Amino acid sequence: MRLLSLLPLLCFLCSCGRATGPVSYSSVKEILESNCVSCHGEEEPESELRLDSREAILAGGKSGPAIVPGDVDSSLLISAVEDSGLVTRMPPEDDAPSLDAASIALLRLWVAGGAKP
Ligand code: HEC
Repeated sequence: MRLLSLLPLLCFLCSCGRATGPVSYSSVKEILESNCVSCHGEEEPESELRLDSREAILAGGKSGPAIVPGDVDSSLLISAVEDSGLVTRMPPEDDAPSLDAASIALLRLWVAGGAKP
């Protein structure tokens, strides 16, 4: 009987540990809007790159598509936030600190999972 009453809690814990399903654009939109869209928005976007919609991210800017769905290591957007060398670190060093690890991890998961809408 007591074990049975614990069941809902156990189920809840299990589903948390399993939260590795594909991340959708709606989960990363807020990160990009808070940290990137001020310079990569509608008006005169830096490097002609807009980061205010999934379509714009896929279309990319001066250097081509900002992400390659399923290929984190080729994705300029990921390289930018990780400062791994493909493009200048983003947000620019003089402007803001790096994104926190959780935000970067979420962006990576989104791209790795195919950049779902
Ligand atoms: C303060 C303004 C500013 C902010 C905020 C900013 N960027 Fe940038 N971004 C720039 C500038 C300037 C460049 C061009 C840098 C260069 O060519 O060295 C650039 C270039 C880029 C590029 C290369 C685009 C290309 O096609 O060459 C990527 C990718 C990028 N930014 C992603 C991001 C991401 C992701 C964020 C948010 C985490 C972000 N940026 C936030 C100013 C900004």
